[in-house]
Amino acid sequence: MTERTPFTAAEHEAIRSEFLVADTRHYLNYAAVGPMPARARAVIDSINDTLQRLDRSFDPETDLAAARSRTAVARLVGGTSEEIGLLANTSMGLNWAFALFGLKPGEAALISDHEFPALRYASLHLQHFGVEVVTVPVDPHGGLHPEQLEQVLGAHPNVRVVATSWIYFHNGFRHDLTSLAQVTHEHDAWFLVDGIQGIGTRPLDAPGTGVDVLCSGVQKWLLCPVGLAFVWCRPEIIRERPSPWGGWMSVEWNADYGDLLGEPRSMECGPRGAEVGTQNFAGVRALAEVGEWFGSLGLDRICEHSDRLTDELAGGIDTARFEIVSDRRPEHRSSIFCIRPRGGDAAALYRHLSRSGFVTSLREGAVRISPHFPTGRAEIEQLVQVLHEFS
Ligand SMILES: Cc1ncc(COP(=O)(O)O)c(C=O)c1O
Repeated sequence: MTERTPFTAAEHEAIRSEFLVADTRHYLNYAAVGPMPARARAVIDSINDTLQRLDRSFDPETDLAAARSRTAVARLVGGTSEEIGLLANTSMGLNWAFALFGLKPGEAALISDHEFPALRYASLHLQHFGVEVVTVPVDPHGGLHPEQLEQVLGAHPNVRVVATSWIYFHNGFRHDLTSLAQVTHEHDAWFLVDGIQGIGTRPLDAPGTGVDVLCSGVQKWLLCPVGLAFVWCRPEIIRERPSPWGGWMSVEWNADYGDLLGEPRSMECGPRGAEVGTQNFAGVRALAEVGEWFGSLGLDRICEHSDRLTDELAGGIDTARFEIVSDRRPEHRSSIFCIRPRGGDAAALYRHLSRSGFVTSLREGAVRISPHFPTGRAEIEQLVQVLHEFS
């Protein structure tokens, strides 16, 4: 892993040059959707160019790009490319995981009451099959803690899956995946994680944490086009259980489509099984480019950059006037930084920031500020100034 050294001015300038930067607008909304770097746009433009032509057959590069994407993603989450599958969005990954675990009527899945709807609704859907959903209330400023999980699992011995976001969308709380996985496994349950609000912001060693299945869309902090996600699965599970889905693209064609009717090829198990049909060509190509870029920049350095930005923000805010909603402790902090005016109206603050050129989000009664490595320190200084001007 690269050292946690900050980007040099030249490196940061090169990063910024990947985007269409406006002097008067500041994008601090990576937790919503990430802007597209030039390298992603270039491959998408080239694929669209090929698709528009009457003089060229579609090239087989997408198979190769999918392999590159899986490898790049594996590098970011600490697994191997055989443990990665590409699919359309986080929710499909969560549905794939629930199908893999195969809960029976009377068994239960556990989520918190502050989960993003992707996980909430994928869990609630299980009720159609007689599966119970245990919803644990958590502190709106925090998240799920191992001691609390231990207690709830003791009271609900039918829980077979504990599912959580790595980082909460509304307050930026980063869960201690290792401790939660340990408690979950001690109670003979699977541990499923929605990683979308953290993947691309900081290193993650998914196998080392004890997570069983990890899903994430790539449209936020990974700066890729919408309509693409990945799922990672622990290798022991891949060996024990077949993928609940399978299709013609779950086999290895090696870009050779001349003999489609011959003897069936062996179906890939694990998350590759989730790749049931024709891929999102443009998305997969972009993920290969951008995933490799992240790998070369280093997640440690990306994290170092963002931590500095949120430290500067935390240091510059007048805490008598603004409440910092996000947990800033090293083990729980993230690149999501939420504030609300004390005794005031978060929507008014959101409008003030928007009028002043800052793109943020209003989430659950707070303003969510989510900078990433393309964000400059000067932008945070300006934001602090604009916060001082809020009345
Ligand atoms: C925690 C979390 N999970 C999932 C999603 C998106 O889910 P999907 O990729 O299925 O649309 C979001 C935001 O859009 C999110 O914040």
